Amino acid sequence: MSNPSLLILAGDGIGPEVMSQVRRIIDWYGENRSLAFDVSEDLVGGAAYDVHGVPLTDETMEKAQSVDAVLLGAVGGPKYDDLDFSVKPERGLLRLRKEMDLFSNLRPAQCFDALADFSSLKRDVVAGLDIVIVRELTSGIYFGEPRGIIQEGNERVGINTQRYTESEIERVARSAFELARRRGNKVCSMEKANVMESGILWREVVQKVHDEDYADVELSHMYADAGAMQLCRWPKQFDVIVTDNLFGDLLSDAAAMLTGSLGMLPSASLGAPMANGRPKALYEPVHGSAPDIAGQGKANPIACILSFAMALRYSFDQGDEASRLENAVEAVLADGARTADLLGEEGVTPVTTAEMGDRILAALD
Ligand code: NAI
Ligand code: MG
Repeated sequence: MSNPSLLILAGDGIGPEVMSQVRRIIDWYGENRSLAFDVSEDLVGGAAYDVHGVPLTDETMEKAQSVDAVLLGAVGGPKYDDLDFSVKPERGLLRLRKEMDLFSNLRPAQCFDALADFSSLKRDVVAGLDIVIVRELTSGIYFGEPRGIIQEGNERVGINTQRYTESEIERVARSAFELARRRGNKVCSMEKANVMESGILWREVVQKVHDEDYADVELSHMYADAGAMQLCRWPKQFDVIVTDNLFGDLLSDAAAMLTGSLGMLPSASLGAPMANGRPKALYEPVHGSAPDIAGQGKANPIACILSFAMALRYSFDQGDEASRLENAVEAVLADGARTADLLGEEGVTPVTTAEMGDRILAALD
């Protein structure tokens, strides 16, 4: 059997810097765990624009559709700010998400013990936290029609429409239940069924999918506003949260910040299963291209490294190997290694991007 395939799109700014550390880790798995990948690399974002005049070529798009998983660094930067909207670096990423139909966005909020004092919440509330928010990513109010700003009598009216079909709700619900089975076996679905019809349908469909195919998973429902409160009060009550595009946008950003730095946050975006049973998948850190620190060796590679750990777990069924990598990160942090974004205490000298990579590789060994 051939090796699983990975397409690496490092992108712009700190993207290539953090991705080069991931490359070393991928190689480590090939050499030490007989887990070899067929890795190809290509351009996205400003890097692609510089060479091809577009932020993603059709050829790269085709490659992305044919591999088992795509790993992306980051796109964008001030150099491209004045470009026409149609060729802006971000359009490359949007095209990938749209054409791969990545409807399920997984945003973990995981708090490493060594960083618990970084949180704005008390150590007790966040230490050991490990939850995932599943955000519906391709429908809902950001896409619903009608939309626009129209004239009505003497004034203008801004309009957006929240719209979900049963099949859109069903597929993201399935993805949340599948995820829960690999974790704590618990799903909390959040909507506003008390004031929104789309929320009533959401709740009904999630319940039906549960009862028919996932009765072994513990399911609860919560209004999204109450959910926001519970996330701040006692986030450890959750395992997997599934919610729509708009609520998921807000709740996942809030949950992420429970755990500290942007440089630590991975994500996955999953689509429908391919012929080999694996979901279409794009893994990327939550952060952007960080132009303020790009090229200085200051970037924290952990968000990108943990995104690769998610790929191991969710695309390649290598949960144990994913844990091995997460444990290595945890050990290195416990040992006091800090990139500049993680400096709290006085008198600590930050490690560089490559040194953080060195330490994680050493911990893997
Ligand atoms: P950003 O995430 O690039 O940076 C925000 C702040 O966090 C900066 O101070 C940066 O230095 C810091 N930071 C981010 N990642 C870090 C890391 N790994 N290690 C240490 N510090 C880190 O967001 P910003 O500044 O709003 O956007 C910069 C560019 O990135 C823009 O062109 C934006 O459009 C693009 N962007 C791209 C995203 C993507 O590729 N998915 C997501 C967000 C923004
Ligand atoms: Mg957001």
